[in-house]
Amino acid sequence: MGKLFNVAVVGATGAVGNQMITCLEERNFPVNNLKLLATSRSAGRKLRFKGEEVQVEALTETSFKGVDIGIFSAGGATSQKYAPFAAKDGCVVVDNSAAWRMDPDVPLVVPEVNPHAVAKYADKGIIANPNCSTIQMVVALAPIHRKVGIKRIVVSTYQAVSGTGKKAIDELYNQTKAILNFLEPEKRVYPHRIAFNCLPHIDVFLDNGYTKEEMKMVNETRKILEDDSIGITATTVRVPVFFSHSESVNVETRHPITPEEVRALLENAPGVIVADDPSKNLYPMAIDAAGRDETFVGRIRADESVSNGINLWIVSDNIRKGAATNAVQIAEILAQNYLGS
Ligand code: A2P
Repeated sequence: MGKLFNVAVVGATGAVGNQMITCLEERNFPVNNLKLLATSRSAGRKLRFKGEEVQVEALTETSFKGVDIGIFSAGGATSQKYAPFAAKDGCVVVDNSAAWRMDPDVPLVVPEVNPHAVAKYADKGIIANPNCSTIQMVVALAPIHRKVGIKRIVVSTYQAVSGTGKKAIDELYNQTKAILNFLEPEKRVYPHRIAFNCLPHIDVFLDNGYTKEEMKMVNETRKILEDDSIGITATTVRVPVFFSHSESVNVETRHPITPEEVRALLENAPGVIVADDPSKNLYPMAIDAAGRDETFVGRIRADESVSNGINLWIVSDNIRKGAATNAVQIAEILAQNYLGS
């Protein structure tokens, strides 16, 4: 039998943390001991892993003694503060927050795209999991970039509320219920009502007029594809969908490629399912991607307004491939290739 690892999940009671526990179980990750960490408010709660109850503990600076891999999804401030304590105790951190993603000494990894980057974990003991919208976009675009080079990307997103966490899932549910019962919906999470609405506002606004989410897509895509020359512009929108982000992506390539060639390329790409048959009303949809680990691509067609333009519609489960699955896949590479002996 191969080596077993002591694993900690930080933010275990949250929407992504919970899914991380499920992914570790579903993928049969070689766990020796699983430690579940959250705030002191959740300490003592019990969560199930492989048929057994595991008690949640309060996160402290010494939580990582004897832990091999710590998978974090408890927000940027928690990662910023606690990842260094974990690394100091020899625990390799796979961090789902934005805290470390653009640090030049921290690799930013999508296993289907740049698995080799995991090796850089040794610099700081931290590996960053990219932003959910970025992950699904690069899974679909990396094969095109490798084949013909991507010059420019214009992306608009339609993002599910689960990306904001459990409280936003509750908010969409409660507001929808209130409105359908002719009651006044309460706002707690977003600045405006999300039920029956679209908010062109994800994360905070920056001085350049873009949101932080939009600039994450720009900067993280370049880092993962290892190409700073790609022009990228994004508009990120929160929509009243519980699970799965959808994206309209317009790509200008350096060399010509036909929609048929893109379809053939993506049919053989790891982690991608092409769902593209307009004659049968077949195209990727949030409701079909939810609960799945693959990235679904359809509506592949030429942009007839430029010489080398392609349009695509890309959909994936933001909590699974966009967060938990990608983090556990990174942990698998670590376990198999770097921490195994
Ligand atoms: P808790 O449930 O105890 O508040 P979500 O993104 O779904 O809102 O989940 C956030 C997760 O991060 C929860 O598990 C939450 O724990 C955890 N969390 C947030 N802040 C901290 C912190 N300072 N220390 C430890 N866990 C935290």
